[in-house]
Amino acid sequence: MLTARAVFGEIFGNDEAFRLFCSIAASGEAQGGWENGRIAALVPESYRDLAPKIARHGADEDKHGRIFNALLRKRGLEPVPVPVGTDYTMLLENAGLGLPHSQLRRGQKLTEDDIITYLAHSRVTEQRASEQMRALRKYAGSRPDIGRAIMMISDDEDNHLAYCHEELLRLASAGHADTIHRTLRATALAEIAIYRDVSKAVMAHLGRILGWPRPKSATLAAGIQAIYLYERLGGWRRMVSLRMPARRNALGGPRPARAGYT
Ligand SMILES: [Fe+2]
Ligand SMILES: [Fe+2]
Repeated sequence: MLTARAVFGEIFGNDEAFRLFCSIAASGEAQGGWENGRIAALVPESYRDLAPKIARHGADEDKHGRIFNALLRKRGLEPVPVPVGTDYTMLLENAGLGLPHSQLRRGQKLTEDDIITYLAHSRVTEQRASEQMRALRKYAGSRPDIGRAIMMISDDEDNHLAYCHEELLRLASAGHADTIHRTLRATALAEIAIYRDVSKAVMAHLGRILGWPRPKSATLAAGIQAIYLYERLGGWRRMVSLRMPARRNALGGPRPARAGYT
């Protein structure tokens, strides 16, 4: 039967598919780490308090990249280049979402609007990361090595999402609510289309590696399109709401020590 659990089982059980899957994930995490590291360095004076949290956010994403690479190494695999069309982070940037890498490379201090753009982009993409990791947690549960790594990442992504909610709420109450809602809406509506395209591209590559028959690939592509329709028809709203999280100051304080990968 064609279930998410069976599909992930196939991916985890095949070296080539696993290699591509982890390479794509590691590359996205590393890009996120670099972006956050640059943003932390360029925070304007008036947002000084945010800098250590953004730096921690970046350090977490870098760690996630190392975790996916470590999963590859454990199986004696080397990462492969990320195919065009599967690079979620780059496609978001090309669509004008978040802060452009050219700006982050220039080294000029960010503005208040840039901080809102960064937090709104993170609010949307961390929701995606948090949901994806929760799903993976469910499907990788029977593989202790992968399951343990995913659990650690999943916990971090939940923290990142909580932090975005809290900081955006703080900025909204400081008078930026309209800009925040406008930016969140535009980011979410663009993200859902990019996520659909990337999901289809990733599945197409995996399908070729795993030798899936055409009807199976078509069914999976239709499933991805159905998710997009659900999101376009209102599911996107879950990515723009702001609620004070139960876990406050999730990125404040020292980074908790965890075994391995650090
Ligand atoms: Fe991450
Ligand atoms: Fe994250």
